[in-house]
Amino acid sequence: MSAMASVAPPVEPYYQPCGDEVAIFEQCHARQLAIMLKGPTGCGKTRFVEHMAWRLKRPLITISCHDDLSASDLVGRFLIGHQGTHWAEGPLTRAVREGAICYLDEVVEARQDTVVVLHPLTDHRRILPLDKIGEILEASPHFQLVVSYNPGYQRILKDLKPSTRQRFVALDFDFPPAEREIAIVIHEGATDYATAHALVTLAHRLRALQDRGLAEVPSTRLLIATARLITSGIAAQAACRAALISPLSDDAVLVAAMRDLVDLTFI
Ligand SMILES: Nc1ncnc2c1ncn2[C@@H]1O[C@H](COP(=O)(O)OP(=O)(O)OP(=O)(O)O)[C@@H](O)[C@H]1O
Ligand SMILES: [Mg+2]
Repeated sequence: MSAMASVAPPVEPYYQPCGDEVAIFEQCHARQLAIMLKGPTGCGKTRFVEHMAWRLKRPLITISCHDDLSASDLVGRFLIGHQGTHWAEGPLTRAVREGAICYLDEVVEARQDTVVVLHPLTDHRRILPLDKIGEILEASPHFQLVVSYNPGYQRILKDLKPSTRQRFVALDFDFPPAEREIAIVIHEGATDYATAHALVTLAHRLRALQDRGLAEVPSTRLLIATARLITSGIAAQAACRAALISPLSDDAVLVAAMRDLVDLTFI
């Protein structure tokens, strides 16, 4: 398991809001409601949580979920050391105790028996039973659980159970509106308006190919990577081919169609 613990970021993580997500998050935090962020890869979910932790002045503990993640990985376990056994607190327990925001990334990847430890934390009880040490930990009033997942990747078997889903307020994420995405690409890609505008125009054309069989469409993250290459001196068309087109597909016909769109956009 990879758990990353941190204090609240001292510098504001740059975030362009795309709707009322900041206000909804703040209200959920004040009312101790858990949040589920749904949306495609690279559309700003992680950045949003980092920004909100900074805004709310809470530490952020991030846990990447995968199918080997066990309840003990989240809660804690006894470890054998030189001085005998000792209790090693897991990242979820620490977040519950310290009043951190606990962000479980790609929660559908976690097994059901792991996800159920979240249940008593996400209803009126707000407790975490620590069976192994015979304790019941009451959550700090500042503790908040945030989970994310990408509905596109979700396979039927990997969907969350209704009893889990219905414990969360869901925020739908998507790629930002054009002017917002241009602002993001300028800021994060250290580029100018003309380049960012062209990249976002190209992204819209490529995203329209989803109906014609392109399984993966370019995310804001890919646009930023492309902008950075252009800023570092790589020619725009070459940067688009390497950073934007190639990562998306191995299908020769689709790649050729996407390259045509690059040439159309950057003449
Ligand atoms: N609304 C936004 N404001 C500021 N930056 C953004 C925004 N959306 C995307 N970005 C930029 O895009 C990058 C990718 O976003 P982020 O890592 O938050 O995506 P994600 O939705 O968590 O993706 P994944 O599902 O793959 O984890 C960020 O590092 C940031 O530079
Ligand atoms: Mg993320």
